[in-house]
Amino acid sequence: MASIVVSGYQLANETLRMADLRQALYDEGAILMDKVLVNLHGQEHRQRRNIETKVFRRDFFQWYETQVFPQTLKETLAPYLASGKTDLVDFGFRVMMNLTADFSGVDRPLRTPEETAQLLHILRTFGKAATLGQALGDKEAIKAEIQQAMDEFDQVFFRPSMQRRQTLLAELASGQRSEDSLPRDVLLELLRNAPEHPIEHEVLMKEIGFFLLAGAFTTIHTLTHAVHEIFTWRTEHPEDAKRYEQDRFFLQRAIHESMRLHPSSPTAGRRPTCPVHLPTGQDATEQDMVSVDLMAANRDVGVFGADAAQYNPHRPASKQASPYGLSFGMGMHACVGLNLAAGLLPRADAREQDHQWGTVTLIVHELLMNGARPDPDRPGVVDRSTIRNNWSSYPLLFGV
Ligand code: HEM
Repeated sequence: MASIVVSGYQLANETLRMADLRQALYDEGAILMDKVLVNLHGQEHRQRRNIETKVFRRDFFQWYETQVFPQTLKETLAPYLASGKTDLVDFGFRVMMNLTADFSGVDRPLRTPEETAQLLHILRTFGKAATLGQALGDKEAIKAEIQQAMDEFDQVFFRPSMQRRQTLLAELASGQRSEDSLPRDVLLELLRNAPEHPIEHEVLMKEIGFFLLAGAFTTIHTLTHAVHEIFTWRTEHPEDAKRYEQDRFFLQRAIHESMRLHPSSPTAGRRPTCPVHLPTGQDATEQDMVSVDLMAANRDVGVFGADAAQYNPHRPASKQASPYGLSFGMGMHACVGLNLAAGLLPRADAREQDHQWGTVTLIVHELLMNGARPDPDRPGVVDRSTIRNNWSSYPLLFGV
């Protein structure tokens, strides 16, 4: 078995588009991720993806950004503003958990701090499944912890959410309810399509758990890296400090630049489904592992310039790549939440009042407008339990 690493931008791009390479990054996280979207292949993957992406239409993002998210953000931030401080990672979890629970289809009927804490704990435990392959601790103990969180999720959150949606769909079918009154979420779409595309209970529960994970963790880590890059840059370039607050297009660009440097998964992993000839010129078989080094591809000097490894919010747009590089993947598994997290790339005629920014830009803007700055007495801490180098804590102060 050979391990083939692909690191140039164009080669990585072409490799990710190959139909004969299947997902292989999450094999170790099968306990939660077996048979979930990101692990499916071919027809099975296409079918499930087509159903789920119905939730993520463009009008959904517009509605979400203008009608739903600002309120969630303000409500979540209010207690921290009152106390003058927060931990950005913890705050990110709280904001993103609500967001991802809504579009995944996980109800929180009680709306109590205890209920939030319970789901947060489950979500943080699920996070360990995605990084099991890169975990440095006792993997069996981590799996037992994930299984316990899955059982709790199933009983407390998933089954009631599923039963409520089944009732709503039955009411729709009998004419007692209109389409407009249904929630817009992934679980509802999967249940609606279950007669033609049935899914076992266990798989459906994992799929929704995976959506919670995919939406929340990636965004939180991306958010923390982006804020850190901004703080570092504005210390060294005070002339840009106000621009981050006043020019939202500049802020969004600065965030895309950080996304490029810090892909939430530093590599994508694939295995051939048959003997293939890779864009690198190598031949690979079903036994080989193809690792696409997203971090290296995103720092390709031939695409992003001689200073590609550095953060530069003024970086000119590349003609060959998106400003965030391959951080949202490419090909069949390309991220369905891209527009939600990163917004749209502004066109020449884009206007502040109706541009779609993405949740990360919206959150960072709100933090900066409230005077967020690093807490000088409590520096951020990098999580060394995986090789991803994400922040496990990032204390902030508010006000001037
Ligand atoms: C900054 C935030 C995010 C980043 C950096 C990110 C990154 C990625 C990447 C790299 C992949 C491809 C994985 C692969 O090729 O193996 C992916 C897939 C996926 N992402 Fe995201 N993601 C983000 C936010 C979200 C959000 C908000 C959602 C929820 C809507 C989401 C849902 C998914 C799903 C469901 C897939 C699997 C798609 C498939 O296999 O067809 N992601 N994401």
